[in-house]
Amino acid sequence: MDKLHQDWPEPIVRVQSLSESGINKIPDRYIKPLPDRPSSCGDGGDDDDVNIPIIDLSGLFGDDANLHASIMDQVSVACREWGFFQVINHGVSPELMDSARQAWREFFHSPMEVKQAYANSPKTYEGYGSRLGVDKGAILDWGDYYFLHYKPLPLKDYKKWPATPPNCREVIDEYGKQVVGLSGRLMKVLSLNLGLGDHDLQNAFGGENIGACLRVNFYPKCPQPDLTLGLSPHSDPGGMTILLPDDQVVGLQVRRDGKWITVKPAPHAFIVNIGDQIQVLSNATYKSVEHRVIVNSAKERISLAFFYNPKSDIPIEPMKELVTPQNPALYPAMTFDEYRLFIRMRGPRGKCQVEALKSPR
Ligand code: OGA
Ligand code: NI
Repeated sequence: MDKLHQDWPEPIVRVQSLSESGINKIPDRYIKPLPDRPSSCGDGGDDDDVNIPIIDLSGLFGDDANLHASIMDQVSVACREWGFFQVINHGVSPELMDSARQAWREFFHSPMEVKQAYANSPKTYEGYGSRLGVDKGAILDWGDYYFLHYKPLPLKDYKKWPATPPNCREVIDEYGKQVVGLSGRLMKVLSLNLGLGDHDLQNAFGGENIGACLRVNFYPKCPQPDLTLGLSPHSDPGGMTILLPDDQVVGLQVRRDGKWITVKPAPHAFIVNIGDQIQVLSNATYKSVEHRVIVNSAKERISLAFFYNPKSDIPIEPMKELVTPQNPALYPAMTFDEYRLFIRMRGPRGKCQVEALKSPR
């Protein structure tokens, strides 16, 4: 059968059920090869003093010109040198951030029958899932997730959103609206910083017709956290990601100079990162950066990854303004739909997917 139209290659096991069953050894399916394990040497180990930049956005839309310039500059440096940064005073309500995280925590702690009613398939990935990719016998990550769409509107389907807890849909909806707003503000900052007009990057995304979706990650406690990962190394395939991390438990690691740096989230911060589509549009001025998630034996962890994506059927290629004879286009045009297809078949694979796009020169 055609790989894209098939169901999961083998029965789905919920990582949360495995974790709650009280096993003290994880099944072989979750054991990563030695070099991929969290504390494998050779990656230099973790550097506890280092963190990704934290940028205070209050003042971005005020009238203090110096402050404004300084914020623009901080974002510019963060995009060019890190591909990852945190924002605080970003305009999204801190109470809403807490209630959205809490609603999802309650969903994942609902009885399994409730969650199973939303079980997903690799056709669209919408709903409750426990793996990415459909390779039979693949080594799996230690996490469950929930995936849903906000935009475009025809894809927004409340029936595919959890009805438990009772306020869930309402909270998720308002959360989406506010985070779309923040994403639009960040797009302007990035566009200006690339030397473009403030709407140009948004227009290259398809203007109002962008895509927006949410992947809520739930990483249960793991009896052998040194042998596995909550989420394997990957770069985000879309435009830009706005991540709400757990407020109690760290786990996200960003690759920098061959080392894995653990992100230490600031209170009520969002973690922003550049996805593959902005790497392409910016002709690699901004790069999507590899990241992964480690798990632990003491505490579960939850995170809300909001993906702000280009309209899915328009060609995405380096923007004309950023292509010169000295800086030729590094990537051919491809729609996000086409790009996502091969990602979804193969699951997370570091950065090799966007690298594979590079035009032969
Ligand atoms: C993702 C992701 C990080 C996290 O969902 O793409 O990178 O901290 N999540 O869960
Ligand atoms: Ni990611």
